Amino acid sequence: MSAAYLSGKVFLLITGASQGIGRQIAQSFAPLLGNDSLVLLIARNARGLQETADKLPRGLSVHTASVDLSTATAHELKDVINKVLGAAGAMQFEKAIVVHNAASIGDLTKSTVAMTDFNIWQEYYDLNVFSPAVLNGVFMEIFNDYSKVLRLVINISSYSAVQPYKFMGYYCSGKAAREMFFKVFAVENPNVNVLNYSPGPVDTDMLHAVHTYTSEAQDEDTKNLVKNRPVLTTEQTVIRLLEVLKLQKYKSGSHIDYYNN
Ligand SMILES: NC(=O)c1ccc[n+]([C@@H]2O[C@H](COP(=O)([O-])OP(=O)(O)OC[C@H]3O[C@@H](n4cnc5c(N)ncnc54)[C@H](OP(=O)(O)O)[C@@H]3O)[C@@H](O)[C@H]2O)c1
Repeated sequence: MSAAYLSGKVFLLITGASQGIGRQIAQSFAPLLGNDSLVLLIARNARGLQETADKLPRGLSVHTASVDLSTATAHELKDVINKVLGAAGAMQFEKAIVVHNAASIGDLTKSTVAMTDFNIWQEYYDLNVFSPAVLNGVFMEIFNDYSKVLRLVINISSYSAVQPYKFMGYYCSGKAAREMFFKVFAVENPNVNVLNYSPGPVDTDMLHAVHTYTSEAQDEDTKNLVKNRPVLTTEQTVIRLLEVLKLQKYKSGSHIDYYNN
């Protein structure tokens, strides 16, 4: 991918775009896209998606799809993408970018030995691991090697993918599994540019949930988990993401953290 990494006629799909980091990615990426680019914003909250769409520049074709990614099948996801592509299909674009951003934090009250309910594991992994894997497969089937479209896959990862934290067994293991999936995908697909971006601690609902839980926790380690750590704005972390993409110094599939040099 050239320095003009977001230029040209681009198809951009962002999951979890109804708020937080996903919304900011839409807002910061959209002005860099070429004329007639198409943006597809996915999450459950239709109003949040519309609020994000309203913030994007005119001149782009912006679509929203209210989808519960924990239950959507490959067939349904394919329909959502094909519907917005229309008759002109995938070939009309120079670049196709998918940002796997949607995620949930999971139950923060359980230690690993208390995680004995298969249904809760299943539900958590459905959204956080299986859904990005399935969506990615669908996306690659549409924008395949023969489409000649430059492809960029961004998985929004976390420091928790590499660093264990007490009571975060669902989140840490899910982030690690999801990141490794995209690493395997990267080695299998050398023609696709893959980035696992860890955004740092960012001021969003998800971080507020962690703060609330840790402040009420009984054990000191958990209490100190996020205490006194600087918190980034969504703008700060997405500016850094854009810089990482622009410099293109990473090997496809790498884990790049906000704080990496
Ligand atoms: N904030 C941080 O400090 C931090 C740190 C490291 C990594 N991250 C990662 O950054 C990404 C974004 O997180 P955030 O902080 O912006 O969290 P957030 O504000 O809670 O946003 C999460 C997004 O995921 C969507 N989502 C959740 N469940 C969904 C479902 N079942 N189907 C479809 N969409 C769903 C939500 O939309 P709806 O509710 O509308 O569906 C929302 O748009 C996540 O991958 C997170 O793990 C965040």
